Amino acid sequence: MPAGSGIAEAAGVLRAGGLVAFPTETVYGLGANALDARAVARVFEAKARPRFDPLITHLAAAADLTDLVGRLPAAAQALAERFWPGPLTLILPRPAAIPAIVTSGLDTMAVRVPDHPVAQALIAEAGVPVAAPSANRFGQLSPTRAEHVVAGLGAAVDLVLDGGPARCGIESTIVDARGDRPVVRRLGALPVEALVEVVGLVEVDPGNSGQPTAPGTLAAHYAPGTPLRLVTAPVPARQPDGVRRGYLALRDRPADGYAAVEVLSARGDLTEAAARLFEALHRLDAAGVTEILAEPVPDTGLGRAINDRLRRAAATWQ
Ligand code: TXA
Ligand code: MG
Repeated sequence: MPAGSGIAEAAGVLRAGGLVAFPTETVYGLGANALDARAVARVFEAKARPRFDPLITHLAAAADLTDLVGRLPAAAQALAERFWPGPLTLILPRPAAIPAIVTSGLDTMAVRVPDHPVAQALIAEAGVPVAAPSANRFGQLSPTRAEHVVAGLGAAVDLVLDGGPARCGIESTIVDARGDRPVVRRLGALPVEALVEVVGLVEVDPGNSGQPTAPGTLAAHYAPGTPLRLVTAPVPARQPDGVRRGYLALRDRPADGYAAVEVLSARGDLTEAAARLFEALHRLDAAGVTEILAEPVPDTGLGRAINDRLRRAAATWQ
């Protein structure tokens, strides 16, 4: 449904225990009433997501968090004030009102206030916190358009609100903000440099193991269906092996010979590149190539989050 006219109906679906995919500024989310354990169970089923991988709870406004958790730790308070609504997820102690299935039994809860009018209107109208992972099947590319959601999840979703392409294009930055020094657990759409401006030092520990407590950090994740390999310079165009290859470039097109090429930003702009990343990978995936070669981008600002996703996509195929 077009997002504008669908809010009231979508809110009704959420209240009735159904699943609604909705746009946020980062990627599309697959939402369920976070207070309804059965509805949340359906999210795990629809995504074929392991139950040990906890969900992010979404709120319409920062003020709603106070009702849930009371006073915030100082660093969390400062980050929330500066960056909400926005692409920042905070890990905080789990309040009793949030059922354990949302957090996979952890005593912590991930929570954010999305900066998207449709997400905010939907959550406010539903009148409940909304648990929402990215609206893709587990381990696959995140959706930045309603079409990606429909293609990936199909009938497992009751309703998809179409709000056009997602502005940021990569997921929120996840920060454990329980202590004095915040720890970045997932690099994302809010650059580490922005966090540092507000709280001084932060630790960056996105993990790389198969640890069940932070699977957003699973080494293999965000994978296209086509094998992806990282390169540092374009492989010579015509290789004797006859393999059809796709190429993901930051700014410069490689020499001829690739069956499909995606350029993330002709200006070399990392914000634009992030916004296009998953969409470009979705297209390369659909191009019928045997292998995708991808260039890492400069490792600063949003570049870190882009490289993180490319490395994890490549890890899936090693
Ligand atoms: O931008 C986003 O964050 C999008 C939009 C829809 O809000 N959501 C999203 O959700 O990316 P998802 O489920 O695809 O990724 C959430 C990540 C998971 O990797 C999960 O392991 C981690 O957050 N997570 C959730 N709760 C956690 C917790 N209590 N402690 C540590 N990690 C947690
Ligand atoms: Mg995801």
